[in-house]
Amino acid sequence: MARNSILRLARDCNAFMHCRDNLAFLRPLADASMQLIVTSPPYNIGKSYEARSPLDTYIQAQAQVISECVRLLKPGGSLCWQVGNHVANGEIVPLDIALWPVFREHGLKLRNRIVWHFEHGLHCSKRLSGRYETILWFTKGEDYAFNLDAIRVPSKYPGKKYFKGPKAGQLSGNPLGKNPGDVWVIPNVKNNHVEKTVHPCQFPVELIERLVLALTRPGDAVLDPYMGVGSSVVAAVKHGRVGYGCDIVQEYVDIAWERLHALKAGTLRTRPMHKPVYDPTKPNGGHVREPEAAEPHMVLPFKRPAG
Ligand SMILES: C[S@@+](CC[C@H](N)C(=O)[O-])C[C@H]1O[C@@H](n2cnc3c(N)ncnc32)[C@H](O)[C@@H]1O
Repeated sequence: MARNSILRLARDCNAFMHCRDNLAFLRPLADASMQLIVTSPPYNIGKSYEARSPLDTYIQAQAQVISECVRLLKPGGSLCWQVGNHVANGEIVPLDIALWPVFREHGLKLRNRIVWHFEHGLHCSKRLSGRYETILWFTKGEDYAFNLDAIRVPSKYPGKKYFKGPKAGQLSGNPLGKNPGDVWVIPNVKNNHVEKTVHPCQFPVELIERLVLALTRPGDAVLDPYMGVGSSVVAAVKHGRVGYGCDIVQEYVDIAWERLHALKAGTLRTRPMHKPVYDPTKPNGGHVREPEAAEPHMVLPFKRPAG
């Protein structure tokens, strides 16, 4: 995309994305300027965009980036670090366990260890195939933003009422839906996913949308220091937040701008939040409406609050 078009898009969408090493990108940013920092770093497993290093060296490098992120985080803001396993000689190291002490040293408070479950990935022959990764959700301080209503999901029995007692006849659940819990079943971005780009491990936008809606307000700043093809920035801008991100691979940054351009033009296809996971035993895989624009698939009564 031409430089002028990028500048215009950056201004119109409130997005700041650069091809830069993250420490160089983060250092000039102002203290306490970010409401949400959400990212997925390399796992030190030798992907095309990373050099494999000893685990200690990897953790030290992560600690430097985390330290910058803590500086940038607003009091009451959230930091979400999405990781899987480092694998060496067939032995796995869950990176959230290895990194947890780093966040704790900064005094961050762990609010949830969200399990992200998906169904596609490598088929292992000497251990069980990995089908989840985690998101460590930390806050800076006790008084933090959390808008549960914005991310409620349909209750199993939405019309269920108290059978007896003083509330007999009243709805027993929240009419806005239930808390989504800390196990999130969201398809990962493989070849048949509508969001697939050349990136080998991009976030599904709906995963980040849920965090953006719960942990920020419109106008807040959202940062991804390992942004890849800009999924976090797309999720942020889609909901009226300001998006910041960087990556060291120019091709990924170019794609991120193209995705943002398509978002603004209304042509970016993202898998809708709340779309049920494909179930081969049901007609049309259990999908009520196609194509992807059929958002949201809700069981009434379910009202999504504005913002
Ligand atoms: C797991 S991927 C993140 C993908 C991203 N969540 C998305 O949706 O596209 C990690 C990314 O970190 C980038 N990266 C690696 N080292 C970096 C560094 N020092 N500074 C900035 N980005 C880096 C890689 O190029 C890669 O795209």
